[in-house]
Amino acid sequence: MKISLKERIFIADAFKKAQGEKAVVAGWIHSIRIVGGVAFIVLRDRTGLIQCVVKKDQNQEGYNLAKDLGSEDVVAIKGTLKESKSSLGGKEINIEAMEVISRSEKPVPIDPEDWEKTNLATRLDWRFLDLRATRNRLIFEITDAAINAMRDFYRNNGFIEVFTPKIVAEATEGGAEVFPVVYFDRYAYLAQSPQLYKQMMVVAGFERVFEVGPVYRAEKHHTNRHLTEYESVDIEMGFIEDHEDVMKMVEKAVIHTIQAVSQRFGKEIEQYFKIRLDSPKDVPRITFREAHKLLDEHGVKQPDPNDIDSEGEKALGDIVEKEYGSQLFYVTEYPWVKRPFYTMRKENDADYTKSFDLIYRGMEIVSGSQREHRADILEKQIREKGLKVENFNFFIKVFRYGAPPHGGSGLGLERLVAQMLGIKNIREARLLPRDPERLTP
Ligand code: 4AD
Repeated sequence: MKISLKERIFIADAFKKAQGEKAVVAGWIHSIRIVGGVAFIVLRDRTGLIQCVVKKDQNQEGYNLAKDLGSEDVVAIKGTLKESKSSLGGKEINIEAMEVISRSEKPVPIDPEDWEKTNLATRLDWRFLDLRATRNRLIFEITDAAINAMRDFYRNNGFIEVFTPKIVAEATEGGAEVFPVVYFDRYAYLAQSPQLYKQMMVVAGFERVFEVGPVYRAEKHHTNRHLTEYESVDIEMGFIEDHEDVMKMVEKAVIHTIQAVSQRFGKEIEQYFKIRLDSPKDVPRITFREAHKLLDEHGVKQPDPNDIDSEGEKALGDIVEKEYGSQLFYVTEYPWVKRPFYTMRKENDADYTKSFDLIYRGMEIVSGSQREHRADILEKQIREKGLKVENFNFFIKVFRYGAPPHGGSGLGLERLVAQMLGIKNIREARLLPRDPERLTP
């Protein structure tokens, strides 16, 4: 029987109707059971699940149709709301008419109701089915809430959103980790970061800018925290005293975001991810040198004296949580050898930089610094890093015509979301992840 989709309402709104009221709902069949002349269909749409019931002796045609249905078929149902203590949500729909809109091939390659039974690689191959699971779709509703909160925060603090080129002539974060692209009769690269352009916009007089956009890293990492394409939330602000001004701004943005997500999705996060999302209050600061000392004291070996590896970050997360009671903290003043050429070095302590990483639940989610805005020193630093000055003249000249002290940071959106939800593999927090092996779907 034909049902007009113009009358269709979301399942969440159907639950608001009273006993005896009529509703048209439509969605995917989540599950179906036939028991003693009664068909129980659990229907799923974006807003939830509702049980719909048809009895053979009351609606023979509907019952016959239901018997022939299976998981993931798309149907429209017209019926009457009925209180039902035994049903999920306390209500069900007594089916009066039903239309099959689209049938699913059988067997369905992965069962959205039981996504945990399927390994991640297969889930990603069938991502459009995997995302039909409430828990998996929730990750992206939370991402949406997080990025909205972050955008609001920066706008309310005088930043404007900008959109900079993703096809670029030079690497910004270090030489080898770029994807070349054929650009007519020459080569270009996919941007590793909006770094140079966001600095340019501060100097152009925008003073405070942010950008949310994809960045590309040609790193052959096979880890649970690296993607070759991820969404970066970059900020840059002028007229700062030092990197601490940037840190204050960033921590407020992150706390505001966690708070906003926790307020709106706290209950669902506990239900589906079995984790409590509390918003952090204090954000301790530890210098890089103190961090190494702490790791040393706790017997955590660090292979590179100028770096903190992922094991070190994790261990540090545990130590700081125990000693300072915080899951969010800064490590500051990284060694010059590990930071990009545009980073400002400390006065009288030039082996270290005015830089920071923000660690959340044992993983780096933000990296930032004050930038070198004095053209001559910048040029020297480019040389010192073994880069060709002529490739960066377009950038150096930005600082020759009046440039305020400035700084900024980049936040990995998937890492923030993964850490908020306790997700172990970052791929789950990217709609369609790209890694060294995966280029489809
Ligand atoms: O530390 P990164 O490379 O710093 C920059 O891009 C600078 N331009 C930022 C700045 O303003 N100084 O990256 C920044 C953040 C990291 O803290 C991490 O959260 C995330 O981006 N990130 C990645 N996320 C997923 N996959 C990868 N391969 C990532 N690399 C960095």
